[in-house]
Amino acid sequence: MKFQLIVTLLPVVLPLAHGAPARRDTPNPGLRGTDSLVGYSADNSGGSDSRPDIEYTLVPGQKENLEIGSHLDFVKADNPQPIRGPTGSDDPGPSITPFTTMYYLSIRLHADRILSFIAGNYDYDRINSDKLAPPGTDHGETINAQWPMDGAGWARQENTNVMPDAKLMAGVDMRLAPAGYRELHWHVAAEWSLVLNGSCRIQAVNENGETFVDDVTAGDVWFFPPGIPHSIQALDDGVEFLLVFDDGDFSEDNTFLATEVFLHTPREVLSKNFGVDVSAFDKIPDDELYIFKGTPAPADIEEQNVTTTSGLIPRALSYSYHFSEQPAHEVAGGSVKIVDPLTFPIASNFSAAIVTVHPGGMREIHWHPTSDEWTFFISGQGRATLFTAPNSATTFDYSGGDVGYFPKSNSHYIENTGDGDLVFVEVLQAPEFTDMALGQWIASTPKQIVSDTLNLSDDMLNNFKTEKQYVVAGDSS
Ligand SMILES: *[C@@H]1O[C@H](CO)[C@@H](O)[C@H](O)[C@H]1NC(C)=O
Ligand SMILES: *[C@@H]1O[C@H](CO)[C@@H](O)[C@H](O)[C@H]1NC(C)=O
Ligand SMILES: *[C@@H]1O[C@H](CO)[C@@H](O)[C@H](O)[C@H]1NC(C)=O
Ligand SMILES: *[C@@H]1O[C@H](CO)[C@@H](O)[C@H](O)[C@H]1NC(C)=O
Repeated sequence: MKFQLIVTLLPVVLPLAHGAPARRDTPNPGLRGTDSLVGYSADNSGGSDSRPDIEYTLVPGQKENLEIGSHLDFVKADNPQPIRGPTGSDDPGPSITPFTTMYYLSIRLHADRILSFIAGNYDYDRINSDKLAPPGTDHGETINAQWPMDGAGWARQENTNVMPDAKLMAGVDMRLAPAGYRELHWHVAAEWSLVLNGSCRIQAVNENGETFVDDVTAGDVWFFPPGIPHSIQALDDGVEFLLVFDDGDFSEDNTFLATEVFLHTPREVLSKNFGVDVSAFDKIPDDELYIFKGTPAPADIEEQNVTTTSGLIPRALSYSYHFSEQPAHEVAGGSVKIVDPLTFPIASNFSAAIVTVHPGGMREIHWHPTSDEWTFFISGQGRATLFTAPNSATTFDYSGGDVGYFPKSNSHYIENTGDGDLVFVEVLQAPEFTDMALGQWIASTPKQIVSDTLNLSDDMLNNFKTEKQYVVAGDSS
């Protein structure tokens, strides 16, 4: 509705902007046109001629049939146009035709997007070409499956406040300077983490009083069950890590901090609890610490190895997994490696795959039968189409730092659209990492059934691969 309103406004707005001489007797000269504009005159030009032409060049793929839907690389395009296939190509004006074209393509845009387009702000379009000119195969409404987790500061958060349909998981990208702490704390949700850069020391005590301490580095994973208190301290080079929680509503602001539990307990009770004088608590901080710089962790981890009569948390139930040391499984278009409770048992419902897609390659079309997928794009550029039954499909563009979300059994692919490797982590709420691959399914179905349904030739079907591909190679030229 808003969209149509803007379309009808434009022909009125643009002639105004070009201003004709004002009528002598009108107040505020310059605001109005002249008498000559009233009614028919051979000198009057039609609406579209009065608009300036805008120069643009189409990018490769833009004139293909709508259904081919190649990625359009607008990054270096001077003036990206919402044009795909044969539609809208005759009138280069950016003001009306694109909207008509967009309407024709049934692009679902919000008013703010259209306004940024009018304002000539093409930056958003350059990195979101599938929003500006979606493939003809997009249709109807899906959930929003993309969120740029960028912004300033040390902790960036994605949850249902910004992605309302991402209900199963939420995430935080956090950085700690050298010797920086994430204060001792616990939370109601389970916490799964992938170290993105640097290294840190993590420690915890479980409900049996058993202790745990370990150092983790880029590529490693940790897990803290709900309610288990833990801390994180950056080592020499600082650390950046991704946290994923098994609750889409999770907020970093709702963690139980050690400082807060002391601050909000009567001193008399603390004194009784610890068997010390009330004055012992005179110097506790008068506010939360949350993230703060501490004394550097001792280089020798044994200095922080607290051993009590309760013993250590048994290795089989350890909270760390040295995923960085697990070689990736190489496939045609990249590589994949999985960590799930089969090898990291304490993370009982977190299953994840780190996927690397070489330029031109693609994480094959698949879906996860047992869980929604929460995806973090670590580096590179890609795009995905989320297909939701019965016939809705939306194509989203992603770059390093973005979060993606693909609901359970909704099919999708992730195609590398950049010049370098695309790396992302898929996280599921499931005791085992599983996916259903479109290619394997079709190739392993009796040919008669497939050709009756899809009208594909036997020759072609004989070449389909029955093995799961994970990442297929592509033409990167
Ligand atoms: C890792 O951190 C270092 C130091 O903070 C920084 O120079 C480097 O660019 C980071 N690397 C990545 C991949 O973020
Ligand atoms: C801590 O001490 C225990 C018992 O001596 C030992 O088994 C363990 O390897 C030590 N180090 C760590 C980091 O747990
Ligand atoms: C795993 O997570 C899903 C989704 O929240 C839930 O339905 C299932 O019960 C969980 N399974 C276990 C073993 O916790
Ligand atoms: C299947 O494809 C052939 C051409 O290869 C075409 O002649 C035929 O009409 C198609 N059948 C269906 C049911 O679409």
